[in-house]
Amino acid sequence: MIYKVIKTLTYSGIKDITIVLGGESVGDFIKLLGDGSDFNANFSYVYQQGAGGIAEALYLTKKILKGHKIAVILGDNVFENSFSNAVEEFENNNEYGCILFLKEVPDPERFGVAELNERGEIINIEEKPKLPKTNLCVTGLYFYDENIFKIIEKVINDIGYSDRGELEITDVNNYYIKIGTAKAQIVNGFWSDAGTFKTLLRCCNFESEFSKRE
Ligand code: G1P
Repeated sequence: MIYKVIKTLTYSGIKDITIVLGGESVGDFIKLLGDGSDFNANFSYVYQQGAGGIAEALYLTKKILKGHKIAVILGDNVFENSFSNAVEEFENNNEYGCILFLKEVPDPERFGVAELNERGEIINIEEKPKLPKTNLCVTGLYFYDENIFKIIEKVINDIGYSDRGELEITDVNNYYIKIGTAKAQIVNGFWSDAGTFKTLLRCCNFESEFSKRE
């Protein structure tokens, strides 16, 4: 799974990759992945002590990534396609502060759920709502501009950690929406997280079909 996630980035043209690790298997991951040369990439590593959320993990990379535009991908998200066009557009264009990648799903209550207006602009995200307003899930791929760390600091000061003990990436994304610089883009092709046995199986089935075609 980690190979698949890294390939989504490298096939999109992203070669400088900071990997946030936690838990007990950190050494195994570093041993497996090395310095990135096997992937024609450069890897650096950051350690997250505890499960403080995606926004916390991202904030821990500030020392390395401050001042850069970045893409964030979650380690359990499987995408069929890469995103080279979106990366190029985001790199060369300062119109948007962030790009959020959305996908229609049958079980939106498990995810961040996006609400769009009639012009297709994203107007709000609710994290794991009991009664989702749409079936558009916010996937675990996010592009952010150089303001990202300042915005996480605002979220830390104004909102803090959620009831599940996490610094929520949804609060960060809603901040970009509030200041009017978030763009939503629909993901083409297969996407799934692998956070449940069912979705892990879905990813494995997709991958076995997909690798037949490669
Ligand atoms: C996280 C985010 C959620 C997003 C999901 C995508 O959920 O909080 O907004 O839709 O990743 O996989 P978590 O995996 O923390 O439940």
